[in-house]
Amino acid sequence: MAKKIRVCSVDDIEEEDVMRFDHEDKSLIIIHGPDGNFYATDGYCTHEKQHLSEGIVDEFDIECPLHFGAFDYRTGDPTVPPVCVALKTYPVVIEGDEVLVEF
Ligand code: FES
Repeated sequence: MAKKIRVCSVDDIEEEDVMRFDHEDKSLIIIHGPDGNFYATDGYCTHEKQHLSEGIVDEFDIECPLHFGAFDYRTGDPTVPPVCVALKTYPVVIEGDEVLVEF
């Protein structure tokens, strides 16, 4: 059964910014998109072991800082090579002013 874990307050991540979130054995990124919604994906790039929290948010892409591949963080799909394997995505729920992610 999915569990909801509190990540932060909605004010803690500016629009088009990214935050790292580690919980138990998982490492995620949480992104505040330009549409006002929050998104969560696995934190490590699928190309090599580079954390995407150090990447750049460009509209709905997150660009990896190592080889500049990119993913659509709404779906996890690769958008710019060399990445070719999708990121896992996680549902984000807003309760009041809290950002929660569902595992
Ligand atoms: S490690 Fe991310 S594009 Fe190579």
